[in-house]
Amino acid sequence: MPELIASTSSGDYPILIKNGALASIGNLARDAVVGRKAFVVSDDTVYPLYYEPVARSLQAAGFAVSGYAFAAGEGSKTAATLLELYNQFHAAGLSRSDLIIALGGGVVGDVTGFAAATYLRGVPLFQVPTTLLAQVDSSIGGKTAIDLPFGKNLAGAFYQPKAVILDPTVLRTLSRSRMAEGMAEVIKYGLIRDLQLFEQIEGQTYDLEWVLERCVRIKTTVVAADERDTGERMLLNFGHTVGHAIEKITGYTQLSHGEAVAIGMVVACEIGEKTGRTPAGTAERLRKVLAHYQLPTECPWPASQLMGAIHSDKKRLAGKLYYILLKQVGEAVLNPMDPAELEKILGEVVGRG
Ligand SMILES: NC(=O)c1ccc[n+]([C@@H]2O[C@H](COP(=O)([O-])OP(=O)(O)OC[C@H]3O[C@@H](n4cnc5c(N)ncnc54)[C@H](O)[C@@H]3O)[C@@H](O)[C@H]2O)c1
Ligand SMILES: [Zn+2]
Repeated sequence: MPELIASTSSGDYPILIKNGALASIGNLARDAVVGRKAFVVSDDTVYPLYYEPVARSLQAAGFAVSGYAFAAGEGSKTAATLLELYNQFHAAGLSRSDLIIALGGGVVGDVTGFAAATYLRGVPLFQVPTTLLAQVDSSIGGKTAIDLPFGKNLAGAFYQPKAVILDPTVLRTLSRSRMAEGMAEVIKYGLIRDLQLFEQIEGQTYDLEWVLERCVRIKTTVVAADERDTGERMLLNFGHTVGHAIEKITGYTQLSHGEAVAIGMVVACEIGEKTGRTPAGTAERLRKVLAHYQLPTECPWPASQLMGAIHSDKKRLAGKLYYILLKQVGEAVLNPMDPAELEKILGEVVGRG
């Protein structure tokens, strides 16, 4: 499997995608930093599963290794965890030439990334994502964040890692529903940019290493074209306008992010079909693929309720709403839409309420 290189304005870094890649972390670390201390941050589910092989690889490469695990779950993506991480880094005597390793899902990646970005004004970071969602999405692109009491991801920084290491074998311990959640994002990549990827998922003929590589390639390309989250990066939000609205309406508890996005993608296809921008039958084709992963495809929330949540979304530019639609499977387009127009079509798709 090739090693991908992500190019950013703050330099290039390798993305290694390989079965058994955890064992390569030590060698990559020796090339990446001059210090000889490594600090592994994880959560209390992932730590007992994967800390040992990671620490062993680092020790074999000459690193003194420390580790810390916080409680698994979104509830740990807080300022309190961030402060605890600073305490831990200090206690381990970490310097700016040492290395911090985020070993876990998107929560570990986001909070550890922000801690690495800000401790001593920046300590080198490796992202070692262990959920499918983190491997294809959150570990790539340099966004880090914590939640604040009044909202998700409200404090953070853009901070690029020195390397990202994807080991598909760690996904074997992931639950079916977590795997499905990541598949929703994989299917999204296929829809917006990669017909072959979508067809492989559709036919259930894919190899996981190959799928990861295709997704990572799309995310790094789109992010490189648009490092600061305007324009092209918005295509990655396909299905997310309604997805985020559903998450907001249900208080982020009833449905997972991937489930909400699954519904959002179907709605986006239907809006596209209704307005003649998406070929007829696309929504139906998508429904079949999502159903295979037991992802939901119907939206029981009416347009009025969805619009209320969409209006308070931060993904708007200068009063305009950008809705991402499919020109065809494998090609998304950014579509400026008047909120009144969107509400009207949304009403036809999901009911007015
Ligand atoms: N930075 C970004 O660009 C970006 C993009 C998308 C999402 N996110 C963030 O990512 C977070 C969600 O990430 P997530 O879905 O990975 O959640 P998560 O980190 O909470 O992981 C989900 C669960 O899976 C467990 N787990 C992780 N790896 C495992 C493994 N290999 N085997 C068994 N269990 C494992 C975790 O302990 C956790 O309980 C959210 O906070 C979201 O805001 C960030
Ligand atoms: Zn998403």
